[in-house]
Amino acid sequence: MQPPPWNATRSAYPPTGIERELWLLHLEDSELDHELTLAHLARGGLRARVRRIDSEAEFLGALDERDWDAIISDYNLPGFSGLVALDLLKASGRDLPFVLVSGEIGEDTAVEAMRNGASDYLLKNNLSRLVPALLHAVEATEMRRARERADRELDASKQRLRELAQHLQNSIEQERVAIAREIHDDVGGSLTALKFDLAWIARHSDSEVVLARVNSALETVTLAIDSSKRIMHNLRPAILEQGLAAALHWLASRFEKRTGIECEIRLPREAPALPTGVPLVAYRTAQEALTNITKHAQASRVQLDLSLAGGVLSLEISDNGRGLGADDLAKARSFGIRGLHERAGTVGGWVELSSGAGGTTMILSVPLSPLGAVGIPSVPVHDADDPSQWGSL
Ligand SMILES: Nc1ncnc2c1ncn2[C@@H]1O[C@H](COP(=O)(O)OP(=O)(O)OP(=O)(O)O)[C@@H](O)[C@H]1O
Ligand SMILES: [Mg+2]
Repeated sequence: MQPPPWNATRSAYPPTGIERELWLLHLEDSELDHELTLAHLARGGLRARVRRIDSEAEFLGALDERDWDAIISDYNLPGFSGLVALDLLKASGRDLPFVLVSGEIGEDTAVEAMRNGASDYLLKNNLSRLVPALLHAVEATEMRRARERADRELDASKQRLRELAQHLQNSIEQERVAIAREIHDDVGGSLTALKFDLAWIARHSDSEVVLARVNSALETVTLAIDSSKRIMHNLRPAILEQGLAAALHWLASRFEKRTGIECEIRLPREAPALPTGVPLVAYRTAQEALTNITKHAQASRVQLDLSLAGGVLSLEISDNGRGLGADDLAKARSFGIRGLHERAGTVGGWVELSSGAGGTTMILSVPLSPLGAVGIPSVPVHDADDPSQWGSL
């Protein structure tokens, strides 16, 4: 195969700002005009490798050959045209500077060319602008590419961060289950055995002193068992085994008792069947929202709504407190709400916050279609060995 015909321009003029040699495709049927263009490139101080082509087939072949820096194209070519070349370039998906050159380009054509993505247009009788126009187009394209590359890298990095955060949420949840199990099996088992032994001693002793000691020890063991149950429940809400509705009821009544803030709860008539992972995400969302209300809202009333409409599960928690601003959500050391966004993402859902003078509303939405709810690695919530039975004699 014949090597492609190259023309190199070397200039005695000062450098242009782009230090490297540019690789240019020149779509031009007239050898004379090509020579003229080379002369202008050299005079403008541009170091370039220029390949002349003059047909559609050559143009398409050359595009595949290498990465070009720019295309200079004549407007009129026999059986081909600069605008068609521009369309072909766009169709190929390449982002290359394209400078249109013509003997008699009209304003309408020039506007059309620019609208179609040409970088610039020049008249053949005024090629002194060729080098500045090329340099400007090459620099603009390189800046755009760099920006797009940076945007892509930023998006990829954000995606990796999101995946890591979601993975951590899942790991935390699994670790909590494991710790709850250990407390149940080790601590719970030992405390229950101790309680049985103490009860045995109480039944078989006649000494008042021993009985007083044993009863006091039984009280201590019962308190220890209650504490273990409470810790276990915080680690892994066993109440979820009775369904999300029951768990939300329990959360709301505990919140009311602890804070004295009135908490109204509205639930669907029929408990929706929820995919794995969704009840826990909803429970943790309500838990964090109620904790935030306790800590920050200064509210006197809270409403908790669970509903299912159009295949989307919604959990809405609103308060009539002081409301929150953009600054609140940007706090460097606050992770509760950020964590909720990531948690919701693990089941294909999202969290929205709105706030005003009337208070704050947080809404978790989870589409329950087969595609919507992508379960997190299942965190088992059912445990045949019900820890709430510990210590019963
Ligand atoms: N219901 C609310 N009413 C008023 N302000 C709120 C409410 N919920 C959150 N905020 C504000 O938004 C901020 C961020 O909340 P977020 O739950 O992310 O973090 P945090 O509660 O401060 O800390 P943590 O990481 O322990 O959750 C809070 O510090 C608070 O200023
Ligand atoms: Mg919080």
